[in-house]
Amino acid sequence: MAVIIRPEQPGDEQIIHDLTVAAFEPMSFSDGSEAPIIAGLRNDGDLSVSLVAVSGGNIVGHVAFSPVTIGAESHGWYGLGPVSVWPEKQRQGIGSALINEGLAILRASGAKGCVLIGDPAYYRRFGFRSDGNLSYQDLPAQYVQSLLFGSESATGQMKFSPAFNR
Ligand SMILES: CC(C)(COP(=O)(O)OP(=O)(O)OC[C@H]1O[C@@H](n2cnc3c(N)ncnc32)[C@H](O)[C@@H]1OP(=O)(O)O)[C@@H](O)C(=O)NCCC(=O)NCCS
Repeated sequence: MAVIIRPEQPGDEQIIHDLTVAAFEPMSFSDGSEAPIIAGLRNDGDLSVSLVAVSGGNIVGHVAFSPVTIGAESHGWYGLGPVSVWPEKQRQGIGSALINEGLAILRASGAKGCVLIGDPAYYRRFGFRSDGNLSYQDLPAQYVQSLLFGSESATGQMKFSPAFNR
């Protein structure tokens, strides 16, 4: 079935919440904070890009991008996540379609790049790399990744929007 990627619209909030909970529930690393983080970003005006994947009229996936600070630089950098696909719809390319569309939107908007914390085995395919210049608390460097849109590199400590720390 064809999958359409479109921006979040009013009325999508509950299904985004439910699918985020369902996607992260089986993940051992999850503390259950992902759905409240998305709601917090939305309330704070920090949901810079919020896309849903629609298949057969149903929302089956979601990705959020929000502003991040890197070192002293607070403009032009965005963090990817949370990203979720309904468990029974995973491994059909929906997550990749959401991420690629979000990255294209950020790139077209003149952003400097995108950063994230996640499994390099998954994010490598989108061009994310860990070059050791970016850090997040005391996390091993391999999980702290960036995708540069221009010549400026992401160097320093990465700080997410306040909704990530409530
Ligand atoms: C991560 C997620 C959004 C990917 O969505 P998806 O629609 O299944 O992804 P795609 O179909 O585009 O890609 C699937 C590929 O990614 C791989 N993949 C998915 N999660 C992965 C992970 N954590 N590490 C490594 N590879 C992963 C799959 O093995 C598959 O690879 P293959 O095609 O070589 O078999 C989805 O698996 C999900 O919702 N997971 C639970 C929530 C989560 O972990 N979010 C990310 C937190 S960092």
